[in-house]
Amino acid sequence: MGNVLVINQEIFKDLVTQEEAIQIVESAFTQLHENKSIVFPAVRQLIEEHNGIFGIKSSYLIDEKSVGLKAGGFWKANGSKGKANHQSTMLLLDPETGEPMCLLDANHLTSLRTGAAGAVAAKYLARSVSKTVTLIGAGLQARSQLSALLQMFPIEEVVVFSQTEESSRKLAEEIGQKGIAARYTDCPQKAVEQADIVVTTTPSFSPVIKSSWLREGTHVNAMGSDTKGKRELEIDRAFDIVVCDLWEQSTSMGELQNAEPETPYLEIGQLTSKEKPGRQSAHEITLFDSTGVAVQDLSVALHVYRRAKELGVGVTVEL
Ligand SMILES: NC(=O)c1ccc[n+]([C@@H]2O[C@H](COP(=O)([O-])OP(=O)(O)OC[C@H]3O[C@@H](n4cnc5c(N)ncnc54)[C@H](O)[C@@H]3O)[C@@H](O)[C@H]2O)c1
Repeated sequence: MGNVLVINQEIFKDLVTQEEAIQIVESAFTQLHENKSIVFPAVRQLIEEHNGIFGIKSSYLIDEKSVGLKAGGFWKANGSKGKANHQSTMLLLDPETGEPMCLLDANHLTSLRTGAAGAVAAKYLARSVSKTVTLIGAGLQARSQLSALLQMFPIEEVVVFSQTEESSRKLAEEIGQKGIAARYTDCPQKAVEQADIVVTTTPSFSPVIKSSWLREGTHVNAMGSDTKGKRELEIDRAFDIVVCDLWEQSTSMGELQNAEPETPYLEIGQLTSKEKPGRQSAHEITLFDSTGVAVQDLSVALHVYRRAKELGVGVTVEL
């Protein structure tokens, strides 16, 4: 076996900015739509004994000649052990030989590329004057979603609703310390009804908010549902535009598992490639359903690998 470059989280964080990740993920969505990449079927399975959801996402970038996979998943009880619920590791392989080339911590990668996907979707679907954001769920992804949205929108106020008052308060305080007005509420309806952008990031298996609670012009990034059975929204009023990252994934593990079969939909690559327009009026209520696509991971990881090689950082291990 050859030499494998190992990139830990600390080094990873220095090699890609959020701004770069947003551009890379937008381009990855376009390439996927233009058949310049291949996404292999995702694995997402419950391991009951360990209260964990195990997953593998893999893809091949045709122009970049890059193949890789991310393995890991979501272990619900990790919080009580002082560990992140999400655990991911990324492996890049030599496309010519199948030999391992690079092993990367992918916990930060997951947050970064998921925040980037939310920002890209909001760029095409939210009103550019969006000032108020509601975060449903107050964990890791809520933080990365807000951080990416702050790069693009003139956000003045954030409202937080989560399962526990403690987690809502903690996040609202954190946001307040950054100089943005933030409050929390124990009522999900009140949390969303005045929002310009709603972001859902819970691991819920039953609806937390209803689409009928949203006002005209609101955009929803539904990020939490990424496993069979998960569900954050009750769609009791149709959205004007429904966009997903990948239809096969959305309807098997995303929010669109619960959508009417004839729901008209677009994939995000149709917007980023400019094949279809996104939002067309200030009145539309729009939805982006994200399940997380392997090309997001691979494109960002490839950027980090190349930069690490340029700079000569990381540790090389002979297998
Ligand atoms: N779409 C993607 O690409 C993508 C990427 C990463 C994670 N995810 C998913 O996002 C979800 C959140 O991940 P995370 O890393 O932020 O987890 P986390 O554990 O850090 O945070 C989850 C938050 O949701 C809250 N919550 C749980 N159930 C709730 C409910 N019923 N109502 C309101 N709040 C509730 C918790 O209190 C917590 O604040 C998971 O389902 C995860 O699988 C999706």
